[in-house]
Amino acid sequence: SDLYGIIGCPVGHSMSPEIHNRSFSDQKLDAVYHRFHVEKDQLGAAINGMRALGIQGVNVTIPHKENVLAYLDHVDKTAAEMGAVNTIVNRNGVLTGYNTDGPGYLESIKPYLASPLSEMNCLIIGAGGAARGIYTALAHAQTGRIDLANRTKEKAEAIIRECDSSVPGRPLSLEEAEYHLGEYQLVIQTTSIGMAPKLNDQPISLENITEGTLVSDIIYNPVKTAFMKDAEQRGCRTVTGVGMFIYQAALSFRYWTGIMPDIQIMESVVMEKLG
Ligand code: ATR
Repeated sequence: SDLYGIIGCPVGHSMSPEIHNRSFSDQKLDAVYHRFHVEKDQLGAAINGMRALGIQGVNVTIPHKENVLAYLDHVDKTAAEMGAVNTIVNRNGVLTGYNTDGPGYLESIKPYLASPLSEMNCLIIGAGGAARGIYTALAHAQTGRIDLANRTKEKAEAIIRECDSSVPGRPLSLEEAEYHLGEYQLVIQTTSIGMAPKLNDQPISLENITEGTLVSDIIYNPVKTAFMKDAEQRGCRTVTGVGMFIYQAALSFRYWTGIMPDIQIMESVVMEKLG
């Protein structure tokens, strides 16, 4: 069998093994995907182990996505721009890093877009690693405008400054985002608010949002956050984080095997677990 896996810490709750193993068997591929718990100070050893053992590919998750770049032979352009890798491909001992998080997010919203991204004003809430990935992907897609709102405004400023893009956008405080909310056709929630233990919290008030706005949350556990429920009640269209999770996995799978897996099967595996 070919060997694949996920390296992270913690990694015990990851659903990646279930969806990839199911897809391997669905595609009749002789491959197995494992969980590898790797402490921060063991990352270099783990990557060398991947070379030594001939592991064909891995996903990389918290806290290694940024630090892993230093151990790879090549990093593709998008991942380099994001400063983060979530997928490694081992081609005859040569390791290349990719990032499918931002592109996975884009794929997940495509079916819901009422107009081309180039005509849309977008607001990203949060300025962590996930926000940076989505910002880069939206900028590559020539989105009309991308504003970034964050509790710590300086972090939003840094992402806009460091991303090499001609797309207009401004950094905002959360209060400023609430005030300007009516200007956006796409709003993306990327902070950790809405996950346990902050299940009932949301980062900003949606009072000024325009009906019909596409609102998404990258959190998928719970599947529907308080933010998603509030947006629905205000007549917005919503996309949960399940889509982003599945598409980032599907794009990783395609880098490893050349085959796009069945998205519906991946989704059913996740929804079975999340209930
Ligand atoms: P990730 O890499 O998964 O995106 P992260 O880098 O820890 O995670 O980023 C977390 C994001 O959630 C940040 O934008 C953070 O805001 P700050 O940059 O101001 O810290 C945001 N966040 C977390 N808890 C928050 C809270 N209680 N209120 C507002 N923003 C919060």
